[in-house]
Amino acid sequence: MRVAVTGALGVNGVFVVRGLLQAGVEVLATNWVEDYSLAPDFEGEIDFRLADVTDRERLHTTLRGFRPDVVIHLAAILPVEAQADPYRGYTVNIMGTANVLAVARDIDVNRVVFTSSKAAYGEVTGIHAHPRYQALTEDDAVYPKNIYDHAKVASEGLGMNYQRTGGPEFAALRFATIFGPGKVGKHGPMSQISGIVEDAVAGRPVRIEQGGDQGDDYLYVRDAAAAIVAAALHEKPLPHSIYNIGSGIARTLFHYADIVRTLVPTADIKIGPGLDPMGFGVSYYSALNSNRAKEDFGFEAPELASALHDYVETLKERT
Ligand SMILES: NC(=O)c1ccc[n+]([C@@H]2O[C@H](COP(=O)([O-])OP(=O)(O)OC[C@H]3O[C@@H](n4cnc5c(N)ncnc54)[C@H](O)[C@@H]3O)[C@@H](O)[C@H]2O)c1
Repeated sequence: MRVAVTGALGVNGVFVVRGLLQAGVEVLATNWVEDYSLAPDFEGEIDFRLADVTDRERLHTTLRGFRPDVVIHLAAILPVEAQADPYRGYTVNIMGTANVLAVARDIDVNRVVFTSSKAAYGEVTGIHAHPRYQALTEDDAVYPKNIYDHAKVASEGLGMNYQRTGGPEFAALRFATIFGPGKVGKHGPMSQISGIVEDAVAGRPVRIEQGGDQGDDYLYVRDAAAAIVAAALHEKPLPHSIYNIGSGIARTLFHYADIVRTLVPTADIKIGPGLDPMGFGVSYYSALNSNRAKEDFGFEAPELASALHDYVETLKERT
């Protein structure tokens, strides 16, 4: 089995590459910049090629040379950056996916796994929002709001269209809110959840003015990567094209902080009450029912406490 990965040096990408290598498959890691800051041990040790997903010709040449069975497409710019420059958001996050899919079809790739997001659901209201948080299923309607959300929905549509018209099998994984090592450095304002843990472990006070009552579905980056690897390496055709990946439970930020306090007893965390800790102004906070991913390729969401324990221990090992 040969698997090519776009966005391989990003926060999720480095965990995905490690997971694939551990599974014993041949991996081609690609990224538009060669930045090993999240995985210094990769430098000179993995098969890496520079490839910008907006450059279809270069992508074609790079992937054709490797002849992958599966392409995992993670390369994207994240919500704040995409919103600040919608044209760029469109170019990288939609045209980039269009290029990956077109190249995958041209070189006879069997499956493309795409990293979508709960952002595809867009603004969450009614029974799915605070205070009920009834878990969203893949059959629920989507209401994309910002450019990042629209790009995820458009990319999913493109992938399903390629599959329906003879292209590669396509699976989009819609992730819950991801936390874990690497996010603080890479994603700044989008990494508040990771920041709580990292500040607590480093002995820095955590002060968040509002949002402690807000529930959300939190997913550890290690578990997100495990889901990607499981979908990519699944031996049989996947019965669906869209999969939620989360715990199905919206935990409040207060609850999250309480777990961190038990793991780091010296933690000095103060969070105000209320909603929208990230200050989005759009209610993306929700829970994702992931039964479909469990049934189709065995995804299991570990307990939040065990994920946070792993995160804290990882940070301690690094200091
Ligand atoms: N982090 C989250 O909370 C989250 C949640 C849901 C979905 N996702 C999705 O998971 C995927 C990976 O996210 P991440 O958290 O690892 O982000 P990241 O920013 O850490 O990684 C993205 C990688 O893509 C690369 N990249 C950007 N533009 C590129 C281009 N034009 N060509 C090639 N490479 C390019 C970046 O250099 C980076 O290494 C993204 O598609 C993201 O939308 C992330």
